[in-house]
Amino acid sequence: MKNLKKTDPEIYNLIKKEIRRQKDGLVLIASENYASQAVLSAMATPLSNKYSEGYPSKRYYSGNEFIDKIETIAIERAKKLFKAEHANLQPHSGAQANAAVYLALVKPGDKILGFDLSCGGHLTHGSKVNFSGKLYDFSYYGVDPKTELIDFKEAREAALKFQPKLILASTTSYSRTLDFKKFREIADEVKAYLMADIAHIAGLVVAGFHPHPFPFCDVVTTTTHKTLRGPRGGLILSKTKDRLDPKGKFTLAQKIDSGVFPGIQGGPLEHVIAAKAVCLKEAMKPSFKKYQKQVILNAKIMADEFLKHGLKVISNGTDNHLLVIDVSPFGESKTIQDELAMAGLYVNRNAIPFDTKQPYNPSGIRIGTPAITTRGLKEKEARQVACLMAELIKNISSRRIKKQIKPEVKKIVKRFPIYEDFQW
Ligand SMILES: Cc1ncc(COP(=O)(O)O)c(C=O)c1O
Repeated sequence: MKNLKKTDPEIYNLIKKEIRRQKDGLVLIASENYASQAVLSAMATPLSNKYSEGYPSKRYYSGNEFIDKIETIAIERAKKLFKAEHANLQPHSGAQANAAVYLALVKPGDKILGFDLSCGGHLTHGSKVNFSGKLYDFSYYGVDPKTELIDFKEAREAALKFQPKLILASTTSYSRTLDFKKFREIADEVKAYLMADIAHIAGLVVAGFHPHPFPFCDVVTTTTHKTLRGPRGGLILSKTKDRLDPKGKFTLAQKIDSGVFPGIQGGPLEHVIAAKAVCLKEAMKPSFKKYQKQVILNAKIMADEFLKHGLKVISNGTDNHLLVIDVSPFGESKTIQDELAMAGLYVNRNAIPFDTKQPYNPSGIRIGTPAITTRGLKEKEARQVACLMAELIKNISSRRIKKQIKPEVKKIVKRFPIYEDFQW
């Protein structure tokens, strides 16, 4: 760091400011977390210099003897942790992981059934502005308008009518448990592959607090930086055999691997793969299980507090690490997001089911507990944070309330410091 300070003070100072911002605010963005110092250390290494196109012991460049060992350890840890037959640690991100799976399993123009984006699906699950929606023929299932839970009757009917080659059991802002078995039954009826993108719930899954996508899914993708609390990145888990093509030239595992490389990526980020290995080891510890339990408890408490304040929580609560609230009665979600940020409370605006507003300024905000739980906040503080947020949301034009909330956030941040030994 000292070196960077001297050679590039402009970037050094901005990094320093961003670290300070992360330390001084309460991160309630459901997809963010604080990776451990061990994870960060593994990333900040000369492993970044190495070209390792290919896979362990089948590389296109020399000098990969140690890289091979690191990537093999990461693969084995991922297989063990996720109870998977096959793991690919190379996707640079969650979006890359999804792109690689689509490339491996379907052809451009083929049909994919995904979860409606306004109900909680992700951009890479068929948005018209994303490669997924541009290259593949997507149709969607959604939620029941009354319960706001996934409507399996609708999903089945959509599958029977649409006859997709691939079905996604995948969400980015859905706060309820996913029933992978039911998705499997639908996929079997139409002879489709079933993929779960568990980017958000991966930590909950490995800790045993969310049903496991295996053995029901053929392929599972995830990010490593959300509830899993690792470096920014993606990974793919799959079965070895291809259920729909058992006698084909390639196994499912081989198709996935070639979907990643040479399919959509060149050289893997081996410094990030090393950090993924570190995070996977951390996720095997009993303390990680305890952490995930608290993540869910905190989210439930926050949902309860919002409901007490008269705010509409989508589906009336949560089973996982996130919740979505409808802020449309109080103002524009962009304004509310910005005002919360000014008070040191970071959230992201989000669509709600059947949203009539535009994606840039939708009706809801999404709130997640992974990061505040890493800081050590428990039920009492989670309730307090929700109370502060609710007050601000309901009084979004009140300068007096805003003035009151900021110091309260500061007090919590001070009581629950993060990255105290981080030297910058
Ligand atoms: C369900 C889901 N899949 C994929 C992604 C994309 O991940 P990344 O931002 O790493 O590309 C996200 C990101 O939020 C996500 O929520």
